[in-house]
Order: sequence, then C-alpha cells, then structure tokens
Amino acid sequence: MKLQSPHLTRHLAGVVLTCAMALPTFAHAEMASGPTLYEQLGGKPAIVMIVHDMLANVVADNRINHYFAKTNIPHLQMELVSQICELTDGPCKYTGLNMQQAHRGMNLKTADFNALVEDLQKSMNSNNVPLGLQNQLLNILAPMEPDVVHK
Ligand code: HEM
Repeated sequence: MKLQSPHLTRHLAGVVLTCAMALPTFAHAEMASGPTLYEQLGGKPAIVMIVHDMLANVVADNRINHYFAKTNIPHLQMELVSQICELTDGPCKYTGLNMQQAHRGMNLKTADFNALVEDLQKSMNSNNVPLGLQNQLLNILAPMEPDVVHK
C-alpha cells in the first residue's frame, strides 16, 4: 500500500524545513525582545542613584517625611534597589516584606502615594532618565497602590 503521495511527501518536507527555519527564531526570542528595563535604566549603579536621590527627596518632603521618622534609610534603600532591580527584570531577588506587610498600620492615603511618586520622578529627572523609561517604571509601580494605601 502506498502510504504517502509524492505531493504529501513534498508538503511534509516543506513543513519540516519551515519548522527548522522557525526554531532559531524561537530560541532567540529573548534576544529579539531587546534589553530589559533594568539594562535600559543603566543597571544596578543607576538604580542605586535613582533610589538614593528619591529617598533624599522623601526625607526633605514635609508632606510625607513623618512616616520615615524612625526608618533605617540605608536599609530601606537596599530593599528598594533589590525590589526595583527584580521588577525591571534585573538579576536580583527581592527578599523583603510584601507591600501589604511593609505598609501595614501606616494608613497611607493616595495623596501620600502620589507624593512619593513625585519624589521618584524628581529623582529620575535629575538622573536624566528618559521619559519613556520613567513611564515604564511608574507603570510597574502604579498597580501596587492598592497594597500600599489604607493598610
Ligand atoms: C509603589 C510604592 C511603594 C513601594 C514599591 C514601596 C516599597 C517599600 C519597600 C520595599 C519597603 C521595605 C520593606 C522591608 O523592609 O522589607 C518599604 C518600607 C516602607 N515604606 Fe514603602 N513603598 C511604596 C510606597 C510608600 C509610600 C507612599 C510611603 C509613605 C508615604 C511608604 C512608606 C514606607 C515606610 C515608612 C517604610 C519603612 C518602614 C520601616 O521603617 O521599616 N511607602 N516600602
């Protein structure tokens, strides 16, 4: 019995060839998607600068600095750097408290959240972070608001 017509054989060969050509594309999907936000921001040194200057702004910000009166700022800086590094697809693992735990009992308001975001934007501007990258980072942080406020 003839199992395959010459046409089907040619067709199957074509499919195999097409798949073989498509495979390297899949294998390199990560490369094709371009640099991570972490890389685009400038890696760990840039994130350290952004967080450092943001916290300097926060400490000088009379709208919200009372929340940080008893905070160990160098420790908070370390946690924030690790968190932002991970969130932007950098090589870090955030091991601090989750956002609900970290802000429990503070009863933060949306206005407090917005003030902190402004202090972050001020820091990103002074560190010459392009607006497109600023927005990408803010888009990652914004959905955390429900875990941070009214806790
Ligand atoms: C998306 C927004 C925010 C993020 C990603 C964030 C992130 C963090 C992180 C990672 C920590 C450290 C947790 C740990 O020690 O394990 C923390 C602590 C803290 N956060 Fe936030 N936070 C946000 C918003 C805010 C806002 C709006 C305020 C107040 C205006 C605030 C006040 C604090 C304070 C006071 C602490 C330190 C508590 C302590 O002294 O241990 N956070 N936050």
